[in-house]
Amino acid sequence: MSGVFKPATRQLILALSKGRIFEDTLPLLEAAGIRVTENPETSRKLILDTSDPDVRVIIVRASDVPTYVQYGAADFGVAGKDVLLEHGGEGLYQPIDLNIARCRMSVAVHAGFDYETAVRQGARLRVATKFVQTAREHFAAKGVHVDLIKLYGSMELAPLVGLSDAIVDVVSTGSTLRANNLVEVEKIMDISSRLVVNQAALKLKRERLQPILAAFERASRIEK
Ligand code: ATP
Ligand code: PRP
Ligand code: MG
Repeated sequence: MSGVFKPATRQLILALSKGRIFEDTLPLLEAAGIRVTENPETSRKLILDTSDPDVRVIIVRASDVPTYVQYGAADFGVAGKDVLLEHGGEGLYQPIDLNIARCRMSVAVHAGFDYETAVRQGARLRVATKFVQTAREHFAAKGVHVDLIKLYGSMELAPLVGLSDAIVDVVSTGSTLRANNLVEVEKIMDISSRLVVNQAALKLKRERLQPILAAFERASRIEK
């Protein structure tokens, strides 16, 4: 028999999505002394090793991160506030705003559409979005009647082809809106990504998780 016995409470799985969340989490992991040794873009692997034999990273869709963490298939993960609001917080502990993948959730319309007048006149608006919960709450709070149309991406297209009057989407530089002749008419909220931790893992794996959480906390504070 070879190898060292490792109790399951030492093994950690971190759920990340490819792209900006993966890239922006790497420096935080490095602050915790953890280096991801494989590149998900080139390797096509979904389970990545790190320099710490107890820590592995799984690659999932951005909107699936809360699900993996909620069910304990991952011990912790990184997800945008937009995604977390849609998913709901059940089974998830959200200790740290990592201040990464920052953007805002906004309402946008075609440049030729008079949103203010439509709202003032009490028109019923068709709104296309991936973020139906957030959109529903926003328009309900304003007292605006909306028909929500659920999309999974390319929201900017909807007003251009007459699918909707408005969209609710995330905006950062505004260049996607500009490129499609849309204008931002209302900011709903600022968005950033949060660390989410499985509530059972937080108790059972506290010894291993705590130093990583502390390093993430320090690094996300210093960087911004
Ligand atoms: P999928 O590709 O699976 O549909 P996604 O488009 O939501 O998912 P990403 O684009 O990687 O995946 O976005 C991850 C998170 O980053 C989002 O939940 C949001 O919080 C944030 N985000 C999205 N777009 C931007 C942006 N342009 N600038 C900064 N942050 C962004
Ligand atoms: C996101 C979002 C917007 C765009 C906003 O798309 O869905 O389309 O960023 O950013 P901007 O204001 O800087 O243009 P993303 O880059 O994630 O591409 P995706 O369509 O693959 O999600
Ligand atoms: Mg995206």
